[in-house]
Amino acid sequence: MNLTNKTSKTFALTTPLYYVNDVPHIGSAYTTIAADTIARFQRLLGNEVIFITGTDEHGQKIQRSAQSQGKSPQEFCDQIVPSFIDLWQLLNIQYDRFSRTTDLKHQAIVKEFFNRVWERGDIYRGEQKGWYCVSCEEFKEERELIEGKRCPIHTTKEVEWRDEQNYFFRLSKYQKPLEEFYQSYPNFIQPASRRNEVLSFVSQGLQDFSISRVNLDWGFPVPVDTQHTLYVWFDALLGYITALLEPGTEATLENAVSKWWPINLHLIGKDILRFHAVYWPAMLMSANLPLPKQVFGHGFLTKDGQKMGKTLGNTVDPVALVKKYGSDAVRYYFLKEIEFGKDGDFNEIRFIHVLNADLANDLGNLLNRTLNMVKKYCAGEIPSIAPQDIPPENTLKTIGGQLGEKVKQAYSVLAFNEVAQTVMLLVQTSNKFIDEQAPWSLYKQGNHNEVATVLYTVLESVRLAAYLLSPIIPNISSDIYQQLGWGINFNNPKETSTVAPFTTHATWGVLSNKQQLGTPQPIFKRIELPKDS
Ligand code: MSP
Repeated sequence: MNLTNKTSKTFALTTPLYYVNDVPHIGSAYTTIAADTIARFQRLLGNEVIFITGTDEHGQKIQRSAQSQGKSPQEFCDQIVPSFIDLWQLLNIQYDRFSRTTDLKHQAIVKEFFNRVWERGDIYRGEQKGWYCVSCEEFKEERELIEGKRCPIHTTKEVEWRDEQNYFFRLSKYQKPLEEFYQSYPNFIQPASRRNEVLSFVSQGLQDFSISRVNLDWGFPVPVDTQHTLYVWFDALLGYITALLEPGTEATLENAVSKWWPINLHLIGKDILRFHAVYWPAMLMSANLPLPKQVFGHGFLTKDGQKMGKTLGNTVDPVALVKKYGSDAVRYYFLKEIEFGKDGDFNEIRFIHVLNADLANDLGNLLNRTLNMVKKYCAGEIPSIAPQDIPPENTLKTIGGQLGEKVKQAYSVLAFNEVAQTVMLLVQTSNKFIDEQAPWSLYKQGNHNEVATVLYTVLESVRLAAYLLSPIIPNISSDIYQQLGWGINFNNPKETSTVAPFTTHATWGVLSNKQQLGTPQPIFKRIELPKDS
């Protein structure tokens, strides 16, 4: 059965639905920044985008957190959820849907999905014995545990022994279909290292997994046996489908998957890869729904080279970070400094150095000094140069002419660090170009045409750089565009995809003499290093 009308002009992407046992941490911010950047890039390409984020609110972990504060789980969730919404606003995240798993509509979708899988004969009752990590909300194999019966991810938490009657999903039945699927769609799991992890895990043989819990009432009842509560992960993954329902439509699977399904990209951290790359596609196969196009598992962040954690007291508070440095700075650092897919580090001194070097010095000064020269040597107007008259051997034209395609390619494979590096190379070359060409001497020698060409070439390079970086640093890019005489705000999705589409603005030679330059203003204020550093 193919229920979808999806066209190639749409792009649906998700972040994980975050647990609300606590306020958001830097890890959730990292995934969400990356997702927002992809969403913005897809909108620039002219695609219709749906960007889904939200919260995962059921399960034992949340129930216990609520209990510890003397609150009902729902009251507790309602109190935490705004901290996610506020952080996304601070970070300039433009999501389209915020999916909460406690939503009533979600219950209807989960029930319908469960029934489909049930009718398929893929759910049965059995006995579950094993070690459970409440923080992961996952059973662990004995061999995975570290000393003291603790979870390898939550190293301070002891796992708990469970021996209970549960409903099971027949994952084992999907071993072969999954393997065939991974073969046919080699890009389904990215990056390649994660794909290999999954292939090796699956090749060891898949075991059925339990999808219900007893002695837990915070969750949806199992439709066929209300004494049992649905396992939080079975319910949470379906939150991606519920999120697709148009407001005001009846909560049915058919409505939910009618336009956007299948999801183009699930962005997740490496710790929840199995759920997304193994359990989820198997569940969808069982329910006879098309499978997502890609799951990308990014790496983990460390602080000053150490694993971050509350017990070590070295967590990075994303709210404090954005309030101190601004959203563009935080977005830029994480995407430029870390190869997406690999683990990466946060170090505040490094953070300051990178931002000062790239945004204040290289990009900011380049714009500022060039605009001031335009004022001085060209009566404050963009030189009237036809880009096609600039000789092809002009270094900036050569680099600029190929940049759009290169950067598009890098964004498409989520190589954000490559995007930033490639664009910054144009910026650095532009600074060198100005120093070498020395428009101030050319002017003195009376070579006004040459001055005009140099300044046009550099301004056009700054424009192109701002455009290509706009999914990462939308505020700075908007400021640059405005100083170059455009009324474009990259935070207005409708405006950017129609007024400044990728097909024209990612190419070389867009700047025109018709634009009225704005007042030169610093686009990024240098950050002072702390005194004791
Ligand atoms: N609720 C589940 C997801 C359900 S999706 C249907 C969940 N939530 S979570 O809040 O615990 O994790 C959310 C994301 O944060 C995961 O992608 C995880 O990988 C990521 N991170 C948690 N700690 C992290 C770091 N230290 N660094 C980078 N990302 C990390 O799992």
